[in-house]
Amino acid sequence: MAPSDDRLRVALVFGGRSGEHEVSVVSARSVAGALDRERYEIVPMAIDRRGRWADAETAAHVLSHSGDRADRVVAFDGVARVDPRLLEPGLDVALPILHGPYGEDGTIQGLFEMLDLAYVGCDPAASAVCMDKALTKRLLVQAGLATPDWVELDRSSWGADRAGLSSRCLELGLPVFVKPARLGSSVGISKIADAAALGKAVDLALGFGRRTIVERGIEAREIEVAVLGNDRPRGSVPGEVVPGHEFYDYEDKYLDDACQLLAPAPLDDAQTEAARDLAVRVFAALGCAGMARVDLFLERPTGRLLVNEVNTIPGFTSISMYPRLWGLSGLPYPALLDELIRLAGLRHRGEPG
Ligand SMILES: Nc1ncnc2c1ncn2[C@@H]1O[C@H](COP(=O)(O)OP(=O)(O)O)[C@@H](O)[C@H]1O
Ligand SMILES: [Mg+2]
Repeated sequence: MAPSDDRLRVALVFGGRSGEHEVSVVSARSVAGALDRERYEIVPMAIDRRGRWADAETAAHVLSHSGDRADRVVAFDGVARVDPRLLEPGLDVALPILHGPYGEDGTIQGLFEMLDLAYVGCDPAASAVCMDKALTKRLLVQAGLATPDWVELDRSSWGADRAGLSSRCLELGLPVFVKPARLGSSVGISKIADAAALGKAVDLALGFGRRTIVERGIEAREIEVAVLGNDRPRGSVPGEVVPGHEFYDYEDKYLDDACQLLAPAPLDDAQTEAARDLAVRVFAALGCAGMARVDLFLERPTGRLLVNEVNTIPGFTSISMYPRLWGLSGLPYPALLDELIRLAGLRHRGEPG
């Protein structure tokens, strides 16, 4: 690169050790395609499924040769515990497009903090909280924001008192949803309509991690709002997910086209405003910065909004909700990336924005 090049050098980090590895690669491709090359030089960095970082050539190859479908993503093996280019001077900002554990949970954000490198999205604390459904719900309740009632379990309490905890869960009323506390992509989640099936579902969820939540099932529409900003976050036009299955499960998200993404969501003005307003309050209550997609339930028939969960690194494929909702809200994909990178810089320098 010529020394006169004054473009920002952006480390685009993708892949990672999560069930959403392929989705991350597809998202990163979309991001790379939308970043303005006059303003940014992209430095691709790829993490394999075991958490090892690929060499520069492999990372560039995976980024440019993977299609825009998750099942076409080029498989690769990493070689290093961390990409050495992260440790050298010259990068201006990191753009992690990683989902789930070791990407969206504060760990890589902690690495960027250690390196004193600006990065897009939430800080380690907010990332860790939003990755954890139980911690998220506790903070929401503390802020007076509605979320479905729930019971928390862990391996030791469940082992010690299955019967007692089961009856507490059943007091929530059926159906309930059983979910690993710290996972995404609907992995390990069960909808339980029959009390006799609860124990097995909890065992399943606890197989994915030490802690689990059991949540009252809400008969609801699923509304999503894209939030953007640091100190003065703003909410997009809401979207809606219409699951093709019994609920928005793993297959629905990644394997078939049964679910529908409606953008904008068919809501009246008052509902639209209420969803936006709630999403922004959730973002602030959880200490988010940069971006997050806030997923809400619009309960039938009450019309009450409840918070389901917050995704701090939402999908970024060309058809993903987060960029689509900002597109509809007047911020096309490239301008959205400009804004995210600008916000990362402001926060890194400790400037308001
Ligand atoms: N309490 C609930 N009531 C009704 N549906 C739920 C509830 N919790 C989860 N679901 C359904 O399960 C899906 C996945 O749950 P979610 O908590 O969003 O987990 P993930 O982090 O894996 O996306 C939701 O999109 C929704 O369809
Ligand atoms: Mg979800």
